[in-house]
Amino acid sequence: MSAATATKARTVKPPQVKPQQPLFIGGRWLDSVSGKTFPTVNPATGEAICQVAEGDKADVDLAVKAARKAFEDGPWPRMSASERGRVLNRLADLVEQHKEELAALESLDNGKPYRDAIAADLPLTIKCYRYYAGWTDKIHGKTIPVDGPYFCYTKHEPVGVVGQIIPWNFPLLMQAWKWGPALATGCTVVLKPAEQTPLTALRLGELICEAGFPDGVINIVTGFGETAGAGLAAHSQVDKIAFTGSTEVGKLILQAAAGNLKKVSLELGGKSPNIVCADADLEVAIPGAASAIFFNHGQCCCAGSRLYVEKKVFDKVLDGVSEQAKRIKVGSGMDPGTEMGPLVSAEQFQRVNSYLESGRSQGAKTVVGGQRAGSKGYFVEPTVLVDVKPDMKVVKEEIFGPVVVAMPVSDMNEVQAAANETTYGLAAGIWTNDIAKAHTLASQLRAGTVWINCYNIFDAALPFGGYKESGWGREMGHDVLELYTETKAVCVKL
Ligand code: NAI
Ligand code: MG
Repeated sequence: MSAATATKARTVKPPQVKPQQPLFIGGRWLDSVSGKTFPTVNPATGEAICQVAEGDKADVDLAVKAARKAFEDGPWPRMSASERGRVLNRLADLVEQHKEELAALESLDNGKPYRDAIAADLPLTIKCYRYYAGWTDKIHGKTIPVDGPYFCYTKHEPVGVVGQIIPWNFPLLMQAWKWGPALATGCTVVLKPAEQTPLTALRLGELICEAGFPDGVINIVTGFGETAGAGLAAHSQVDKIAFTGSTEVGKLILQAAAGNLKKVSLELGGKSPNIVCADADLEVAIPGAASAIFFNHGQCCCAGSRLYVEKKVFDKVLDGVSEQAKRIKVGSGMDPGTEMGPLVSAEQFQRVNSYLESGRSQGAKTVVGGQRAGSKGYFVEPTVLVDVKPDMKVVKEEIFGPVVVAMPVSDMNEVQAAANETTYGLAAGIWTNDIAKAHTLASQLRAGTVWINCYNIFDAALPFGGYKESGWGREMGHDVLELYTETKAVCVKL
């Protein structure tokens, strides 16, 4: 998803950004109740882009009331399913019409290369809305034969008001993964975007108005996690909370949700194993392994961050991946030639640097990278570490940066045990030409997604989510509809 998809544009048109950005509640643009704002920062320079309304519990409460009213009394859950699909398709069309502008805004606010945003984030976002527009009139129950003179059937009804808290790594796409199924099923929504990247969510608020969603169906409260996010997770009038982010906060969401036992779905961290077998086509596996970790600067929950390579080919794969890492062009995401931008924030920059430091102090060897790139902004060099042990922090914990640990393995038994030796279980990769080995390993790996001879392949039709501490539930595909509906059994005496 990197070099091959380079845009031909020489420059990226800087997006227009309003200096003050309000909240979107009940179809209206409002300042926060407290009047407070916070800056969103360009990670390539560390400078503020604009001020954004700082929503808090009071604003969340207004947004939940608006969503509740839209759910209880509004047209949205009552309109025909196909009409809901038409509105969702209009949103998809509007996103498509504005895709260059949205890709530039995403690049500015998040730091990711424009060329990745336009080649990956935008098409996946548009497809996601279209895919769920198509589901609206295909959500139906069953008739069920039971004992006795009864006619029984099931219905799938919207779960109600949904709170959605998303991260900053793929802002538009994470929003689409959340909004698509929620809107298709007839729920109403309060979205809390990540404080690091609120701008594309707010621009979508404007497109929501143009697409013709009734007031209150979608509400956007920008603000911080500990205040706005926590308020949404704990709110007694929210029926379901959907969260993507750190495992640590996922556990807090779970506690907050206990008050009214709202439904919870969680898409959390990972430390995904990527396995290169000696019989793999290394011409494909080497760039594949590099892209598995370096795509989106390693800021992917499913990043292939633990690279296991069969001993026979370890040196060759290590050299190849290191060579790829050296060649990556690091720079401002708004520069069309850039292949890797800055990390999203000063906090993430410090976090990744502290992992690099911990790797060094625990005895890992840096083959390539390992340093800050440039002197301003939050750039880190693509990094390959070797000589690591299973108990090192760089092997066990999610770094969420462009840092891969490479480890030699003797055989498939060893690799299976090592790959599963993690508290996470989001994704895994296997590179081999042996079809039996591929499928055997795929079933042995405790992970929600297994990619064979590919990595980071996403489609709205494919479920995604984690085993173990990588989460609860599956997003996308048909599976996610279950997270946004209640099943009602109706039983009639004949
Ligand atoms: P985070 O989990 O704190 O933030 C994700 C979202 O949760 C943001 O919208 C944030 O405002 C919100 N949030 C934070 N605290 C909350 C709370 N107490 N209640 C409700 N909502 C809350 O992640 P952060 O701090 O941005 O990144 C830290 C680490 O988390 C990363 O280094 C990475 O390891 C992991 N992460 C994983 C992601 C994934 O896609 N699974 C995405 C982002 C981060
Ligand atoms: Mg946090």
